Amino acid sequence: MQTTTLRTVNGYAISRCVPQDIPSVIDINYKTLPEHYSDEFYYEILNSFPEGFLVARGDDRVVGYIMNRVEFGFSNVKGFSLSRKGHVVSVAVLEEDRGKGLGRALVEEGIRAIQEKGCREVFLEVRITNSVAIKLYGDLGFQTTQTLHHYYRDGEDAYLMAKSLA
Ligand SMILES: CC(C)(COP(=O)(O)OP(=O)(O)OC[C@H]1O[C@@H](n2cnc3c(N)ncnc32)[C@H](O)[C@@H]1OP(=O)(O)O)[C@@H](O)C(=O)NCCC(=O)NCCS
Repeated sequence: MQTTTLRTVNGYAISRCVPQDIPSVIDINYKTLPEHYSDEFYYEILNSFPEGFLVARGDDRVVGYIMNRVEFGFSNVKGFSLSRKGHVVSVAVLEEDRGKGLGRALVEEGIRAIQEKGCREVFLEVRITNSVAIKLYGDLGFQTTQTLHHYYRDGEDAYLMAKSLA
């Protein structure tokens, strides 16, 4: 299925995910991350915030994705206040396609969609040993606001990283 290209990066196209892409997204998730979700979860995320679910495509195959959600709760960047927040649920690029700017472009375009949805901040969780992702988020203006102890099933801690969009 054809979707509008939001941006091209090194010959890859960043565009909105369509339902037909979900099996490839699930495959990438299995190959790249220890955190997996039910198939329904992907379709739910796509339904609830389609502008925030993006894929990177090269030669007609999906090589990366980002999925985001809009949530309402306590701010991660500003004292005790309630905020509409974008949550980066998952982002990944196939190993053979990394280092070409796709991860950065997916996060940047995801943030753009989150901002256009009226969110004043964006947050995510990342394994404290995932130095590549932590550096990428730091370069994009995220700051570590909290350590979430034993956040992952295997007991590893997460950093909660957040960025103000105000
Ligand atoms: C994190 C991830 C999405 C980055 O994707 P990517 O397409 O390689 O990202 P980019 O090409 O935009 O590179 C972003 C930064 O990553 C770093 N990076 C990329 N490839 C790297 C490599 N092989 N070794 C070390 N650092 C690398 C660089 O610092 C780069 O910044 P720079 O462009 O200023 O040099 C990718 O590594 C990945 O899918 N990892 C597994 C899944 C994961 O950890 N997701 C995040 C969960 S919170």
